[in-house]
Amino acid sequence: MDSGGDLSGYTFGPFERVTLDDPVFDSKDRRDRFVERLRSGHRFFGFKMDGRVAAYFWFSISCVVPLSLGAKAEIPTGAGYIWDCRTAPEFRGRGLYASGLRLLVDVNRAEGRSLTLIACDADNVASRKGIDKAGFVQSACWEIQRIGPLRFARKDSGAWQNVSLSRVIVL
Ligand SMILES: CC(C)(COP(=O)(O)OP(=O)(O)OC[C@H]1O[C@@H](n2cnc3c(N)ncnc32)[C@H](O)[C@@H]1OP(=O)(O)O)[C@@H](O)C(=O)NCCC(=O)NCCS
Repeated sequence: MDSGGDLSGYTFGPFERVTLDDPVFDSKDRRDRFVERLRSGHRFFGFKMDGRVAAYFWFSISCVVPLSLGAKAEIPTGAGYIWDCRTAPEFRGRGLYASGLRLLVDVNRAEGRSLTLIACDADNVASRKGIDKAGFVQSACWEIQRIGPLRFARKDSGAWQNVSLSRVIVL
């Protein structure tokens, strides 16, 4: 495994049980989402160190997931999607994010899917760097706008589409 960082002492895996008062869940929203997403079939992967969650990654297939500004994305059949990742502040800058992304690509491939998708906000420098480092290649750039209750999206500077009607962008 080419981790890109020193992973000694960390356990990587899908975790169905974590302590909900783990400091990585720094808000009630995050704790609630953990319970609700597992119940909906999404999978929670992460690195643990001494029983604590140092970094986590949500992983899903064939589903609709939230994007920025309240837009939603449909994950095409046959692809795995990594989303809502977080490294606990005191574990940042140690390569956990980039390493976890690589490991999830391997997990996805081992399950028979050759395509792994991920998205991040264009101004999220840390996330973009980690994604690049993990070997992902940019395939599209979506712009999303919210005007009141409406959501508009366009891909690669193409035509705007009202995604409040269809509710989803197909990634
Ligand atoms: C984005 C995030 C997950 C990165 O976690 P991490 O484990 O610290 O990332 P890594 O250590 O693997 O670093 C990846 C690259 O980003 C760089 N990086 C990390 N934080 C950075 C920052 N704040 N600004 C610029 N670059 C940064 C690292 O130096 C590394 O690049 P390098 O190898 O060239 O040095 C973490 O900052 C985080 O949890 N942010 C809040 C939530 C978020 O934005 N999630 C991503 C969207 S899904």
